[in-house]
Amino acid sequence: MTNTPPEPADAGSAFAAGAAETARTDGLRLEILHGAQIERRLDALARLRIDVFRDWPYLYQGSLDYERRYLRTYIDCADSLAVIAFAGPLPVAATTSLPLAAAEAEMRAPFEQAGRNLNSIHYFGESVVLRSQRGHGLGVKFFQLREAHACALGQHTCAFCSVERPADHPRKPAGYVPNDAFWGRRGYSRQPELATHFPWLDTGETRPTHKRLVFWTRSLDGVDA
Ligand SMILES: CC(C)(COP(=O)(O)OP(=O)(O)OC[C@H]1O[C@@H](n2cnc3c(N)ncnc32)[C@H](O)[C@@H]1OP(=O)(O)O)[C@@H](O)C(=O)NCCC(=O)NCCS
Repeated sequence: MTNTPPEPADAGSAFAAGAAETARTDGLRLEILHGAQIERRLDALARLRIDVFRDWPYLYQGSLDYERRYLRTYIDCADSLAVIAFAGPLPVAATTSLPLAAAEAEMRAPFEQAGRNLNSIHYFGESVVLRSQRGHGLGVKFFQLREAHACALGQHTCAFCSVERPADHPRKPAGYVPNDAFWGRRGYSRQPELATHFPWLDTGETRPTHKRLVFWTRSLDGVDA
């Protein structure tokens, strides 16, 4: 294991115009979709997000209605990416990304306020891997595929945000290990000055509340957009 950030994946390898493509990794089938193609997997994506984000630190009480509205942003953007991993017929993991300029206003706002060039920045929506499939390389693969997509679009800064809950939150599980080290090994660093708020309903609650999200970024070409 090394702390050296990996090279961005070859931008040309996995993507071509036209229909969804598939590849195989570790016996799983990876389906790669863009823009309107994502609609056909909307329910699979929604269910994976609801399943995985129910856990700490997200505590997300998802609904298919909310998910359909949320995922519309990706369906409506021709340059978006969704990758879904299937074990046989079952969706077991997924990831999404799109140009930051096409992301929700809450995600654009901190970059706009900081005077950053949104057109050069690619936004990662999420990676969700079912517990039974973790630790076999899908999370790393998802970073490679999204970075390759960003490069193919000429966007050399990648960004995603992470929810930050109070350290003494009563629902924090004992022994919880955050993703910070995993993200650091992928070459990303936390940017405390790039923070936003986004609402969702926590499990066990009756009303959505705004959560604080802090961005992590990586420059793929050594230049900050
Ligand atoms: C974060 C998350 C996406 C990571 O997915 P994952 O598939 O477990 O990640 P990987 O298996 O690629 O990588 C995890 C570690 O296993 C290692 N690994 C990679 N291939 C491996 C293999 N074949 N066997 C064992 N370990 C392996 C990776 O190198 C990595 O370790 P490192 O950071 O020390 O390099 C997953 O834990 C998850 O869905 N968490 C809940 C949702 C979440 O927090 N998402 C992120 C924010 S949206």
